[in-house]
Amino acid sequence: SDTINIALIGCGTVGGGVARVLLAHADRVTQRAGRPLALRRVVVRDLAKARDPLIPRAIISTDIDAAIHDPNIHIIVELIGGTGLAKKVVLDSLAAGKHVVTANKALLADAGAEVFEAARRADRTVCFEAAVAGGVPVIRALAESLAANQVTAIQAILNGTSNFILTSMTEHNMSYAAALAEAQRLGYAEADPTLDVDGSDAAHKLAILAQISFGVAAKPHEIARQGIDTIDAMDIRFANELGYTIKLLAEAWTSEETRTGDRGARNSGGIDTTLSGSGIHPAPGPRQTVEKAVALHVAPVLLRHTDLLAQVRGAYNAVLVYGDVVGETLYQGPGAGQMPTASSVVADLIDLGVGRAQRTFAAAKLWSREGRGFTVEPP
Ligand code: HSE
Repeated sequence: SDTINIALIGCGTVGGGVARVLLAHADRVTQRAGRPLALRRVVVRDLAKARDPLIPRAIISTDIDAAIHDPNIHIIVELIGGTGLAKKVVLDSLAAGKHVVTANKALLADAGAEVFEAARRADRTVCFEAAVAGGVPVIRALAESLAANQVTAIQAILNGTSNFILTSMTEHNMSYAAALAEAQRLGYAEADPTLDVDGSDAAHKLAILAQISFGVAAKPHEIARQGIDTIDAMDIRFANELGYTIKLLAEAWTSEETRTGDRGARNSGGIDTTLSGSGIHPAPGPRQTVEKAVALHVAPVLLRHTDLLAQVRGAYNAVLVYGDVVGETLYQGPGAGQMPTASSVVADLIDLGVGRAQRTFAAAKLWSREGRGFTVEPP
């Protein structure tokens, strides 16, 4: 048959949502994918835990390897999270000839190059719409819809938990601790919420956006970051009285500088604009080089109440993208939580079903390092 068989590895908040969409909306999914997408295996850590009654008991197990090496399975959905076991699952799945769908931003930020090289070698696809901004289709926007552009800057709210906490403190006078507890209860926060509030999760997502927009391989630890964990109610009140809203922003800014001289373009990491003819022989004498650099950072920022990004409330995310052809575009919506994230995972599964998924990680590598610590070199 032409059915696509799926194994879900990890069935927590997001996994539960993915199973629900696949099972409750099987007709819709089949129609969109052009063939049935069948959930055949659900691998969990704790068999005793209560699951969605729609999931047949018989397909639930704790055996990861059995799922990865099941010859009937076509796609592995990795929803374990983290960079340990999840990395092994993704690499083993690719080696076993499976396509992979993942929401794992930490893994892609940390080991994306390795994962996509493994996918290339195995001739398989890795889809990751859910890894950045939850239900907001920003990976497709950057990798596909804006393909005619060179992105020149990104300004984004990428951590739903932090935005939820800031909104709750501002609008409901909630304490930091109470707001964080509520974000955890609603399924927005990471298993370790430190990653949310110290800026790490946003840095992971920014690293992924930088990779697909600029082709830079920024290691998450190279991205300068500050979280919201040092902001107190007083900061928010004073900012508010002055007409500002505090937002945790993840930003990528590019700069371009033209230099004249015969300094080797290759040494500077810049692009030699005067390579003659075939581009093989450098032009003699002084030549012009254009240095391009991208700076990445995550920090709490004061925005005027009237700024677009200041309007983004609760666990919503927003990504403002500047493209040199289109101008400015804004993507906004639920950036965390069960069903929004499941929405993106299932969209990837449908794309794989249709055969139109071709997610790649690298943009043209035109960008070099500049400044302190948070910019990155071309290969
Ligand atoms: N913990 C993340 C957030 C979940 O709050 O944004 C979505 O990746």
